[in-house]
Amino acid sequence: MYTVPKLDDYSPAALDRAVAELFSALDAETAALHSESDWKEFRDRWMARKNGVLTQVNDTWLKAAPKEAKRDVGQRVNELKARAEAAIEAAHEKIHASSAGARLERERLDITLPGIRRPIGVKHPVLRVQDEIVSVFKAMGYSVGEGPEVETDYYNFESLNFPPNHPARDTQDTLFIAGQERKPARERLLLRTHTSPVQIRSMEKLAPPLRIVIPGKVHRNDPLDATHSPVFHQVEGLAVDTNITFSDLKGTLDHAMKALFGSSVKTRFYPSFFPFTEPSADMQVSCIFCGGKGCRKCKFSGWIELLGCGMVDPNVFGFVKHNGYDSSKISGFAFGMGVERIAILKYEVEEIQLFYEGDVRFLEQFA
Ligand code: DAH
Repeated sequence: MYTVPKLDDYSPAALDRAVAELFSALDAETAALHSESDWKEFRDRWMARKNGVLTQVNDTWLKAAPKEAKRDVGQRVNELKARAEAAIEAAHEKIHASSAGARLERERLDITLPGIRRPIGVKHPVLRVQDEIVSVFKAMGYSVGEGPEVETDYYNFESLNFPPNHPARDTQDTLFIAGQERKPARERLLLRTHTSPVQIRSMEKLAPPLRIVIPGKVHRNDPLDATHSPVFHQVEGLAVDTNITFSDLKGTLDHAMKALFGSSVKTRFYPSFFPFTEPSADMQVSCIFCGGKGCRKCKFSGWIELLGCGMVDPNVFGFVKHNGYDSSKISGFAFGMGVERIAILKYEVEEIQLFYEGDVRFLEQFA
C-alpha cells in the first residue's frame, strides 16, 4: 500500500514538489496497466475510501495543514483528485479498447484458408456383406425380418426343438441375463446365440407360404481368437410352402453362393446335426482360394465349410400354434450363415478382430 509522506514544509514550492511527485507516480502507474485486474487494483489504490492515496492526502496534508496554508493545500488536493479521476477513467477506456482489439485479433478468421475435410464414411464391411447376402435372397423373392437380441430361452432353444437340459444346448455357449432363477426356465432371458429364434417369431406372424431372411447380431460366450468373436452376425433363411424339398434347398443355396463368390464356385452338402432340422447338413463351397485343388486355407481338402442348413423339423412346426403350419401339408428348409465368416473369405481378412477395432487403415480399404 502506497504511503503518502507527511509534509513539514507547507511553502508553495514544497507543495508543488510533493504534488509533482504524486503526478509522476500516477503517470508511471497508468503506463504499467495491462489488464482489467491491474486497473482495478490501481483504482483502489488511489480511490479507496480507507487508506487510498487521495484519502491519505486529505488526512495527512489537508487536515494537518496550518490554517494559513489550508487554502493552498486544498487547491492542490482538488487538482490532484481531478487529475487522478481523469487518469483512472482514461486508463480504463484504454484497457477496454485494447482488450476488445486483442479479442478481435484473436478471433480473426481467414476465410481463404482451406476448410477441414470431413471424409465421407462408407458402410462397414460386415454390414456391407450382410446387405449383399440379404439382397441376393431378396432378388429370389425373399422378404426381410428381424428379431430381438435379448431373447427368451423358449425362442432361442425350446421352440427350436432343443429340449430343456438337452446336451445340444452345450454347442452354443450361452450368455444368460443374471438374477432370473425364480422365473420358469422358458421365460428366462438370454442373449440370442443365433438368429434361428426369428424363424419361430416369423411363422407366428406370417402364414405360409413364407420365404424370409433374417440378418442380425448374435452373442456367444466364446473367447476371441482369429476366427471367433463373442458378438457376430448371422443371416438366417427360412422357406416354407407345399412340396418344398431338399433339392430346393440345394438349388437356392448353390445359386446364392455363386452370386456371392462367383459363378465357378461349387457347393456340396455334408450330413450334420441341428435339433431344428431333419435332415441337417453343413454346406461347403469349393475353396475360393485354390479353386478346389487344395491349399493351406482349405486344409488341402479343396472345400470350405460355410453354413448350416436342413429341412425344417416337423417338431418345430408343432411349436407354431396358429397360422396353419401343419407338417402333414407343408414342408420347409432353413439355413444360417455367419456374416463375418463370409466376409473373411470374400476379402481374405486374416483376423476377425479387424472388423471390430475401427482402425481406419483397415476400414478404408473398403471405401
Ligand atoms: N443356428 C445355427 C447356428 O448358429 C445355424 C443353422 C443351422 C441355422 C441350420 C439354420 C439351420 O437355420 O437350418 O449354429
